[in-house]
Amino acid sequence: MSSRAHLLNDRTAEHYRRSLTEGVGRVAEKIAGADRPFTGVTPSQLAPAVSGIDLEDPLGDPAAALDELENVYLRDAVYFHHPRYLAHLNCPVVIPAVLGEAVISAVNSSLDTWDQSAGGTLIERHLIRWTADRIGLGTAADGIFTSGGTQSNLQALLLARDEACRLVEKNSTTPPRKPEILPRLRILTSECSHFSIEKSATLLGLGPEAVVSVPCDSDRKMRASALAAELDRCEREDLIVMAVVATAGTTDFGSIDPLPAIADLCERAGIWMHVDAAYGCGLLVSRRRHLLTGIERADSVTVDYHKSFFQPVSSSAVLVRDQATLGHVTYHADYLNPARMAENAIPNQVDKSIQTTRRFDALKLWLTLRIMGAKGVGELFDEVVDRAADAYGLLRDDPRFEVVTRPQLSTLVFRYLPPSPASQALTDEVNLHARQALFASGEAVVASTVVDGRHYLKFTLLNPETSLEDIAIVLDLVAEHAGRCLTERREALDAQRADPEPAHPRAS
Ligand SMILES: Cc1ncc(COP(=O)(O)O)c(C=O)c1O
Repeated sequence: MSSRAHLLNDRTAEHYRRSLTEGVGRVAEKIAGADRPFTGVTPSQLAPAVSGIDLEDPLGDPAAALDELENVYLRDAVYFHHPRYLAHLNCPVVIPAVLGEAVISAVNSSLDTWDQSAGGTLIERHLIRWTADRIGLGTAADGIFTSGGTQSNLQALLLARDEACRLVEKNSTTPPRKPEILPRLRILTSECSHFSIEKSATLLGLGPEAVVSVPCDSDRKMRASALAAELDRCEREDLIVMAVVATAGTTDFGSIDPLPAIADLCERAGIWMHVDAAYGCGLLVSRRRHLLTGIERADSVTVDYHKSFFQPVSSSAVLVRDQATLGHVTYHADYLNPARMAENAIPNQVDKSIQTTRRFDALKLWLTLRIMGAKGVGELFDEVVDRAADAYGLLRDDPRFEVVTRPQLSTLVFRYLPPSPASQALTDEVNLHARQALFASGEAVVASTVVDGRHYLKFTLLNPETSLEDIAIVLDLVAEHAGRCLTERREALDAQRADPEPAHPRAS
């Protein structure tokens, strides 16, 4: 086959149809046939199959390449649609969005400029407007799709930083230069917020002390009183709080910071309020919308449709209350988006983005809303939140486990408790072992995290197909693996105590 025959165009449309049908068929088989979320393959088992492939020697034929892909990827992939995948914030995806994905890559619009996307730009803008309205950000709101929550948080904090600098410069008789302001900038966020806040601070050139960690209460929500105290301290020390970051759905606990109280404090002090709703944004379409009350007062909001809107990666957006603030990322290039285009109201999304070439991810959400509707998405999210509440009951009543907090969203942080007294170190060890053993078996995938210095396990429920029975089965598996490890460790310790001097190996 000539190289030209691989280009997608008017003459190859049939080849494209056949190739995709073949590929989709293989994936459909895998999805239908997955009897566990993972095979348990290890990096060392899989690596030779991948590195052994000679990339200088193409197969030429899609069917042969798909056969090969079976061995290096499809067979051993981690399947999020499986009901016993309970680990990270990965959702099963809805079919309308996958349909969108197929359209996106074949048409291949780039959403940086109107002249590379046309209707794509308008669709993205309409979805941003829709999201801003769901949040309640007001008529001056705007935003942009991004690659994920990390990028959305980075962009929001970039805007907050530049707004803070602009205000300092505006309000000073002898304005300091930006490099003099940066070391004084602070971001206040809870101790449970996502690590992308700290990463953003570094990328934005702030000092090592820039992110101030505000303590949480026992439900892992930011203490508003502690935030107030930190704001006072910053004022006394002549520091500039460039943003308060509230989290609506912390990664580990799904806890939602007290948004109205935080909004009051920000409003009083004239501070930018960012809400990281990467996880909690599903509430925007759920019957639990009230849990986000206060989000409408934010200056910026992160939403990850690829977490709680059942969208394939990537699908995220950053929204701002005041579209003018997006001007901090507006740069003009003669070849791409000259200023005269903005003057002529030509909609170039690159003017609002920190990316240039950008996928038309918005299309997935568009088809989702047009085919199943926002209510349908909300019902799916509500189901997983309901399931987490039921699973909390299971854990709370099970003496084999300790659970940290009642979930507001759909995560559960818990640990196996040895039936007879055991050191914290041993409890840590058996829990970590249980997670690893489960992963190696492939029967279920759960996550782990650290709470107050101790190792815990975590379920992130994002699959409405995960039943309470699935959860009960996984808990039994955790207890089995942990219990076995505990017995082995104790037997080893007993043997060591009985014979403290290890026998000298006999010379052969
Ligand atoms: C609260 C929160 N914010 C931001 C992020 C980062 O999102 P992403 O992985 O899409 O970059 C996460 C990821 O888990 C998150 O839980």
